[in-house]
Amino acid sequence: MAIQRTFSIIKPDATKRNLTGAVVAKLEEAGLRVVASKRIHMTKDQAEGFYAVHKERPFFGELVEFMISEPVVVQVLEGEDAVAKNREVMGATNPEEADAGTIRKEYALSIGENSVHGSDSLENAEIEINFFFKPEEIVG
Ligand code: CMP
Repeated sequence: MAIQRTFSIIKPDATKRNLTGAVVAKLEEAGLRVVASKRIHMTKDQAEGFYAVHKERPFFGELVEFMISEPVVVQVLEGEDAVAKNREVMGATNPEEADAGTIRKEYALSIGENSVHGSDSLENAEIEINFFFKPEEIVG
């Protein structure tokens, strides 16, 4: 497996509960390295653009409002097989279905307020990284 980069968001429910460090610890314990990180308050335009693929879903409005409700931490993670590894340590979208020890099992409140986002493919990782980061902001 190759070294990859993936994109991660620590979502408002986690930043609000002061869980940023706890989430990063889980990512680092899984062998992922944070090579870029910034805390931002997403604009509505950013949230709608980032989640455009979900715009026909019934939960789209709720998702956008949630993502702009509090600050988030956007990150680039690097490591062996990083896309899959990040999804493994995040756990299933719905925390009730997430495996023990995963971020969502331990910290998520619901399917909507699920503490973290992670890219679902290498192709989307590149798109999502470029959505929030300039190349010079990533320091590997
Ligand atoms: P994420 O990985 O960020 O990608 C899309 C998000 O939509 C997902 O995590 C959830 O937070 C959210 N989502 C998915 N299904 C639902 C749902 N049924 N109700 C509310 N939010 C949802």
